[in-house]
Amino acid sequence: MTRILVTGGAGYIGSIATHMLLEAGYEVSVLDDLSTGHKDAIDTRARFVEGSILDSDALTAALSNCSAVMHFAGKSLVGESVEKPDLYMQVNVEGSTKLLDAMKVAGIKDIVFSSSAATYGQPGDAPISEQSPTKPTNPYGVTKLKVDELLASRAVTDGIAAVSLRYFNVAGALQTSDGWLAERHNPETHLIPNIFKATPSAPLQVFGTDWPTPDNTCIRDYVHVLDLIDGHISALSIMKPGTYQVLNLGSGSGYSVREVIDTASRVAGRVMPSVDVARRAGDPAVLVASIEKAKKVLNWSPKRDLNQIMQDVVSSGA
Ligand SMILES: NC(=O)c1ccc[n+]([C@@H]2O[C@H](COP(=O)([O-])OP(=O)(O)OC[C@H]3O[C@@H](n4cnc5c(N)ncnc54)[C@H](O)[C@@H]3O)[C@@H](O)[C@H]2O)c1
Repeated sequence: MTRILVTGGAGYIGSIATHMLLEAGYEVSVLDDLSTGHKDAIDTRARFVEGSILDSDALTAALSNCSAVMHFAGKSLVGESVEKPDLYMQVNVEGSTKLLDAMKVAGIKDIVFSSSAATYGQPGDAPISEQSPTKPTNPYGVTKLKVDELLASRAVTDGIAAVSLRYFNVAGALQTSDGWLAERHNPETHLIPNIFKATPSAPLQVFGTDWPTPDNTCIRDYVHVLDLIDGHISALSIMKPGTYQVLNLGSGSGYSVREVIDTASRVAGRVMPSVDVARRAGDPAVLVASIEKAKKVLNWSPKRDLNQIMQDVVSSGA
């Protein structure tokens, strides 16, 4: 049976990937230092190694008997990356380098990497394709782009098979027989979970109501985490030694902040409190993925819409 190493398997996306891989018949090992993840989110059927991707011994132990890696571990808060760029370089870039070095020693060549729309920065293109220029506007996006470049170069020098998946906004939750797996970030910076945390005394802030969009709020692309992981599992079957492939994973549709709040209110059956405030520095008006390449190469398309995302978040008890 094929065993996959899931780095960051105690985190939001990695824990759901672990569960879905197990359900799809894979064996799974998880490597996580629990810095932002939760031990109780790791499926008990997975083999868990508690440790860092910066620790070669932990990597060697975690890679034992694996034939491929899904690499989710990392730091992913844009604001924190501006305050602590060295930490982001260390964990995201040095950590990924150590992972690739340990994979080389173990003779493992296949890797699927969690890259990000943050690699594109503020492109003029809408929708954003994989050919759009990469000009990250914060250290987080810089580190994701550096790992993409590292994978491309190791494909040439070491013959690895790498697929880099550039996620847009991931949301939604998964119900398992043990309960729900959902976002539990602290601090939470993502719009959808924050809508449900809003109260009349601490309403959700809508940054900017003067954007050149139909309702004057920003437009973003939201992909259900289950569709995202379906894309990862499909990626395991397109691995080609010596090749680096990059694919956007999003919904291909844009929703304004106002539409997202209205959908959340409708699904939850209560009005989500929000307040209009000034634009935030660095926010582009529209960020929507072109997913044509992923559709073609992975034979994949997202099956769940914004309504389904909201229903699952509400059911998960957000
Ligand atoms: N959530 C999104 O919308 C989104 C969008 C684009 C890209 N991504 C990327 O997807 C990945 C997963 O995101 P998430 O939302 O699940 O984040 P998360 O913080 O919930 O999960 C990350 C996991 O990595 C672990 N980790 C961190 N540093 C580690 C280290 N040095 N060694 C071992 N484990 C370590 C954490 O403990 C955590 O369990 C990240 O790489 C992130 O940059 C997420």
